Amino acid sequence: MYMSTDEIRRAFLKFFESKGHQIVESSSLVPADDPTLLFTNAGMNQFKDCFLGIEKRSYTRATTAQRCVRAGGKHNDLENVGFTARHHTFFEMLGNFSFGDYFKDDAIAYAWEFLTDVLKLPQEKLLVTVYETDDEAFDIWNKKIGIPEDRIIRIGDKKGGKAYESDNFWQMGDTGPCGPCSEIFYDHGEEIWGGRPGTPEEDGDRFIEIWNNVFMQFNRHADGTMEPLPKPSVDTGMGIERISAIMQGVHSNYEIDVFQKLIKATAEVIGYDDLSNQSLRVVADHIRSCAFLIVDGVMPSNEGRGYVLRRIIRRAVRHGNKLGAQGAFFYKLVGVLADVMGTAGEELKKQQELVEKVLRIEEENFGRTLERGMTILTEALDNLDGKVLDGETVFKLYDTYGFPADLTNDVAREREFSIDEEGFEKAMEAQRQRAREAGQFGTDYNEAIKVDTQTEFCGYTGTEGEGAVDAMFVEGEETDSLSAGDKAIVILDETPFYAESGGQCGDTGVLKTASGLFKVSDTQKLGNAFAHYGVLEEGVLAKGDKVHAQVDADRRIASALNHSATHLMHEALRLVLGEHVVQKGSLVKAEGLRFDFSHLEAVKPEELREVERIVNKQIRINHEIETNIMDIESAKAKGAMALFGEKYDDQVRVLSMGDFSTELCGGIHAKHTGDIGLFKILSEGGIAAGIRRIEAVTGEAALDAVEAQANQFEEKLSEAAARSKSLEKEIQQLKDKLASQESANLANNVKEIAGVKVLVSQLNGAENKALRGMVDELKNQLGSGIIMLGNVAEGNKVGLIAGVTKDLIGKVKAGELVNMVAQQVGGKGGGRPDMAQAGGSDPAALPEALKSVDSWLAERL
Ligand code: SER
Repeated sequence: MYMSTDEIRRAFLKFFESKGHQIVESSSLVPADDPTLLFTNAGMNQFKDCFLGIEKRSYTRATTAQRCVRAGGKHNDLENVGFTARHHTFFEMLGNFSFGDYFKDDAIAYAWEFLTDVLKLPQEKLLVTVYETDDEAFDIWNKKIGIPEDRIIRIGDKKGGKAYESDNFWQMGDTGPCGPCSEIFYDHGEEIWGGRPGTPEEDGDRFIEIWNNVFMQFNRHADGTMEPLPKPSVDTGMGIERISAIMQGVHSNYEIDVFQKLIKATAEVIGYDDLSNQSLRVVADHIRSCAFLIVDGVMPSNEGRGYVLRRIIRRAVRHGNKLGAQGAFFYKLVGVLADVMGTAGEELKKQQELVEKVLRIEEENFGRTLERGMTILTEALDNLDGKVLDGETVFKLYDTYGFPADLTNDVAREREFSIDEEGFEKAMEAQRQRAREAGQFGTDYNEAIKVDTQTEFCGYTGTEGEGAVDAMFVEGEETDSLSAGDKAIVILDETPFYAESGGQCGDTGVLKTASGLFKVSDTQKLGNAFAHYGVLEEGVLAKGDKVHAQVDADRRIASALNHSATHLMHEALRLVLGEHVVQKGSLVKAEGLRFDFSHLEAVKPEELREVERIVNKQIRINHEIETNIMDIESAKAKGAMALFGEKYDDQVRVLSMGDFSTELCGGIHAKHTGDIGLFKILSEGGIAAGIRRIEAVTGEAALDAVEAQANQFEEKLSEAAARSKSLEKEIQQLKDKLASQESANLANNVKEIAGVKVLVSQLNGAENKALRGMVDELKNQLGSGIIMLGNVAEGNKVGLIAGVTKDLIGKVKAGELVNMVAQQVGGKGGGRPDMAQAGGSDPAALPEALKSVDSWLAERL
């Protein structure tokens, strides 16, 4: 019976829903609040606290189709990808879970019913394993289900390994929930190489594990102790790609519908024909992890999760290049992927443009990295004494230039050099050590500080409260008392201090007893306990002491305003820029707010102004800010904005500001939007490909910002005024200089007609206003004479002026002279006998008109 991957996904969830399971959405690939985990690597991750009994939900049975990445940390399949039939960096795990509800009996019966009844797999194709000592599971399979003994295989601990190190004892990581498991295998048939589980050939592709049923019984601590869970539970996982292969009658995951389409698309964008090439599989696998990691907010970078993403992208690009890809190609697969993923691809569709951009830029940058690395490597090889490239150089290429070691190896090999792998490993190990010391992943709160208690938060309505000291830690060690000067973490049974969460920073303030004063500089969550970080400034503090807890109210209020404004801005951004705006990060402090979101280009100044206007309008409307607790389904029905992939309890807090904004949020907010007072954006900029950041302030800080801007503006304005004044002065001086120079030049053109000094001249571009001054100046220079100047000023306006010294006005009148010329240039004029001005509109006629002056004067002198 053929079933598509999408059909299988739906059938699985429906089957378990019919068995009383709540269908829960896949959680993000970035695990929420779990520093022990690099990526979500199993369906049970989002339920970790339910198994531990720390978190209670309204259901005790759940089912999911969880997206997982295994490319780092305890479960890492990266290097196997493409080279086996069934390893992936990204896969989907179908799972059913019981939190202290059913146990082995039902788990086994359900799995069997789904496989043999719903999917109709032939029983004889299936065999199972159990943990060596798990007689109970053995008997259920044998007696209740009827599997013959020879198809139930007991698997013990690995030889030479630690206790419980076994394929049939599942552990999430070095710490956390774990237990014995029973795996179901499918026999792909004799023609495929491979042996039964537990045999030396078990790694072949004939017997494939399809479903793991974990019987969760313990919480493993860092020191190896196995603490029994409050109630035995069940965690199962079936890789959807593996079961798809079976239902589609193929022997490799890469032959199922999803991968066939991706492999074809990859071959097309690269321009490569042989669809069986392993590099195509690598690329088809990697686009899945890369695209979904970006959807879940991971960006390529040089550390942590971002670095793993970068490595996977680079690995894909290298395999593409091997097949002859020209230019960026990887990003072109995103659209195809969104289509083939069916219901699991919906969010990717929404964020497609962003994912494409991030990948394209990363590919282009990597192209440059490759070029630079090749130059350095070629030079190193050219100058090498001997045939072995030292490990330090390989490491430097890798570490500083991002040039992968396997590539260095390839290039060296082509030129018949080898690389010092041991030296490289040594340098790598030293770096790993540095990373560990820098406290990267792998630290566990269970390990650092063991806090099992739960703090009651009483701070939504006020900033003061009474609590008792549950536990205290100094440098990670639990202690019963503190003395003045101790830097410590104090856990209370009840507190008004908000612990950092949802982007909002932890509260600051003081804890007081009759004798002691503990100054709190930050509040963080440790599991379900609230940890007050700070210093005991005075007196002593002991476990069990009653304290009066007092939050710094000013800072709290300022943060609350910023948090409420963040919600308003989020909605305003979606209104102004579009629905594609997705929150990618948020930081709310007393000083201001920071909001990161997806948008492919810089936000234009007018768009920022529009966002500001909308937010300020909503502030003036003065909505009451309401909080309501409801179940997640009702919240979604109400249209509450939830962050994609964020982990929400089934009872959620819904925050609404009129009908403008409805979001799921556990943070602290103003009572009315009007409390925000004023909202002001300080800056907008890009922080990664396709991700923008806005920083803004509210309340007093917004007023300060406006005032500072006004002051700045005023300063700039008076600076500009002073400057323009001094420029004007300079211009005047230059003009005067020019005028006297022009007059001097003009004086050289003086001729005589009938013994009278005459000056006729055309100026171009002088100001008509300046002509009078020039004529005065020229009259002075000539002492006795006649002056006629024509000028073509800006705008093609002709300006004319005539000047006659007093002794000559009996013979020639300036008014007549200027009029004679004016008539020839489309104007007319007149004036006093010694000085007369006129205008004209025909500059082209001016030269001829001025030429006529000589004969006109000759007649009169
Ligand atoms: N957690 C188990 C696994 O990942 C079963 O879901 O195999």
